[in-house]
Amino acid sequence: MAEAVDLRGQVADVLPLDPYALRADFPILRTETSTGRPLVYLDSASTSQKPQVVIDAVDGFYRGYNANVHRGIYEIGERSTAAYEAARASVARFIGAPDSREIVFTRNATEAINLVAYSWGRRNVGRGDAIVLTEMEHHANLVPWQLLVQEVDGDLEFIPITDDGILRLDVFEVLLRLRPKLVAFTHVSNTLGTVTPVREIVQMAHAAGALVLVDGAQAVPHLPVDVTDLGCDFYVFSGHKVLAPTGSGALWARRELLEAMPPFLAGGEMIREVHLRRSEFNAIPWKFEAGTPDIAAAIGLGVAAEYLMGIGMDRVCAHEAVLTRYALDRLATVPGITLYGPPADQRSGVVPFNVEGVHPHDVAQVLDRFGVCVRAGHHCTMPLHERLDLAATARASFNVYSTREDIDALVAGLGEVVRIFGV
Ligand SMILES: Cc1ncc(COP(=O)(O)O)c(C=O)c1O
Repeated sequence: MAEAVDLRGQVADVLPLDPYALRADFPILRTETSTGRPLVYLDSASTSQKPQVVIDAVDGFYRGYNANVHRGIYEIGERSTAAYEAARASVARFIGAPDSREIVFTRNATEAINLVAYSWGRRNVGRGDAIVLTEMEHHANLVPWQLLVQEVDGDLEFIPITDDGILRLDVFEVLLRLRPKLVAFTHVSNTLGTVTPVREIVQMAHAAGALVLVDGAQAVPHLPVDVTDLGCDFYVFSGHKVLAPTGSGALWARRELLEAMPPFLAGGEMIREVHLRRSEFNAIPWKFEAGTPDIAAAIGLGVAAEYLMGIGMDRVCAHEAVLTRYALDRLATVPGITLYGPPADQRSGVVPFNVEGVHPHDVAQVLDRFGVCVRAGHHCTMPLHERLDLAATARASFNVYSTREDIDALVAGLGEVVRIFGV
């Protein structure tokens, strides 16, 4: 049995997965960099690598039945529509949505949040209304709300964090006295890895009359997610971080919300009847899928969801939890290193760090010479970096295919950073 992990009660003892066997499913992990080093990919929070089944699904679509969806009354058109809608059903099962018609395909999490901000937001948030976010949101869950409140003359409030990236729910309780219309926050911080207490926040928000949007971009790839159990109203994620192609993503929302929301983008696909001066809109979810979608990417997303369900997200979560602990312990031995974020039991597979006196870009560049890919910069969380008084950080992040040897390679590369810069 794997070590028991307490990611806020989400995972107990599970059968450990074998990342070495799984790696055989990912062709890119067998490649080398131009310097002849094996690829050590530690930037999965940015985008994940893709297993052969997903690559085959995209290839199979273009080679075998490329046709538009919901149009062709011919065999490959019907196959394409069936595969696209089957992918929707897989995604619904993957995140515990009660009805696949509550899954709207989008290009990514950013588009899904914008959809809610434009469609639900413009209708339901007005002058003086508050939206509560947190200090550690990705720009994708900040800027759309800034635009909304600027337009309607509303307000943004922020749940502060502690220095190690834990949400201050005592302050949230006070903010709820403003009777906000919406609370929108990340399930897992892309920068610190903090796993937020979604159920608790949802209960508090609902008791105060607010709806809840959860940004699951960094959670869906790593934790078992069940939107029904979480109790939220909107949930968004990107396919490319969850082993699926770029150009795929989803919004889940409760059916009655989607039905009441006006369309976001308009054109073909999203209509039932069009007259010169008015139109009737399609049923959900197609009302929100104007124009030809990225069919191959959506099909790939369905296959990625099935692949991960086949492994078991509880096992993925347990694997990454063990790896994160290992990384935190090993990295702590590097001279001059500072690690950021919460303790291992409240963190998903993301480890940000700095090496004293060395800019994270230089750290990443030296690591690159050893084939080790980490991200360096502000990770699209500039306000969080400001809050922590940091210009930038380097960040290692894991996925189902990550191993202890990847972390050992990172630590060895950091040894070179220390040597070269004389830390
Ligand atoms: C927490 C979080 N939210 C939203 C996004 C935006 O994702 P995308 O660029 O795929 O829309 C990201 C991407 O890094 C993220 O980490």
